[in-house]
Amino acid sequence: MKKGNGVKKVISVVGARPNFMKIAPLHLAFKKYPEILHMIVHTGQHYDDNMSKVFFEDLELPRPDVYLGVGSGSHAVQTAKIMVEFEKIAILEKPDLVIVVGDVNSTLACSLVCAKLLIPVAHVEAGLRSGDRTMPEELNRIVTDALADLLFVSERSGVANLKKEGCADSKIFFVGNVMIDSLVRFREKGRRSEIAKTLGVEGKNYTLVTIHRPSNVDEKENLTKVLGMLERLAERSTVVFPVHPRTRKMMDDFGLTGEVQSHRGMVLCEPLGYLDFLCLLDGAALTITDSGGIQEESTFLGVPCLTMRANTERPATITEGTNTLMGFDYDKAVHEAEKVFQGKYKKGSIPEMWDGKAAERIAKIIADYILPN
Ligand code: UD1
Repeated sequence: MKKGNGVKKVISVVGARPNFMKIAPLHLAFKKYPEILHMIVHTGQHYDDNMSKVFFEDLELPRPDVYLGVGSGSHAVQTAKIMVEFEKIAILEKPDLVIVVGDVNSTLACSLVCAKLLIPVAHVEAGLRSGDRTMPEELNRIVTDALADLLFVSERSGVANLKKEGCADSKIFFVGNVMIDSLVRFREKGRRSEIAKTLGVEGKNYTLVTIHRPSNVDEKENLTKVLGMLERLAERSTVVFPVHPRTRKMMDDFGLTGEVQSHRGMVLCEPLGYLDFLCLLDGAALTITDSGGIQEESTFLGVPCLTMRANTERPATITEGTNTLMGFDYDKAVHEAEKVFQGKYKKGSIPEMWDGKAAERIAKIIADYILPN
């Protein structure tokens, strides 16, 4: 894509499902800067329509300018493929800055390519740390932050983490949460979704579940316990479970799909689009998850959230929000859910600067950084 005289080029990288809602508000924010050409490069880390295409439609994003189509593979294969393909684009397009978001393999791969080509990198959602290096996402976060030139932080803990790691203050910007920007923008539209009716849970008390981390789904023993927990919860209130492709594959491989699917009170479905998921989360009595983003979205919406992980890189959702860590104690989760149903669960508040304007702040800082003054 050609840029005219004096126009600067910014490339935003998206790869996997949790990236799309973070880039959408940035794309909108850059429209206010005619002197910045904003391009979207999709690595194709997630490629199924219901993990990718539907998000572009729901979030009113244009088709990506470039689609790399790298697909799945081991971490090394996937990361390497993204690097090889993205390097060609970076050399061809000569961006003045590249934006990466979150903590997926695409985030790490593209940061590394840019750092070696001396292209400035901005990391959105910088500084989050779970302290757990067994999670691939944690390694992606650490390396990306070490390479990035601008670090945009969504919650106070991120600033402290970056300073502890020796990052210069001049690189760190506490701007709030771009994912919440999308939520604020699309909440009303989400409410018009018909999904609750389609799944037969309209007006009902239901629990919305997403589980896909290797620690919960890759071993038969753990996945059996997860599904057992859901079946027990389903005795109390309907459980809506959009199944991630990783989880679906494991359930099928271990022969666990049939039973859980036919269990009374369980509603299994394919992964949902952004608006349908937002609609269901907004109306849920409770959510149970091992995702990063849903911990934040539920905090914003005031929906109780039980997180099936030993740690979180988003501690504000616990100290201020509606989130509680359950570790891998599936009995404890059933017990905690009961507290929610009895109205005895904590009420949360919304963390600082989660106000729907994070992307505007980021675009302004980037404009000041790349445009001549
Ligand atoms: C990735 C991210 C994770 C994020 C999650 C959200 C990394 C290291 N992990 O994990 O941080 O929370 O996305 O969804 O980047 N698959 C499909 N269709 C797709 C995508 C994946 O069938 O569109 C299959 C793959 O073939 C593979 C499995 O799902 O078998 C896992 O996909 P992968 O991209 O490796 O990791 P996620 O678990 O999705």
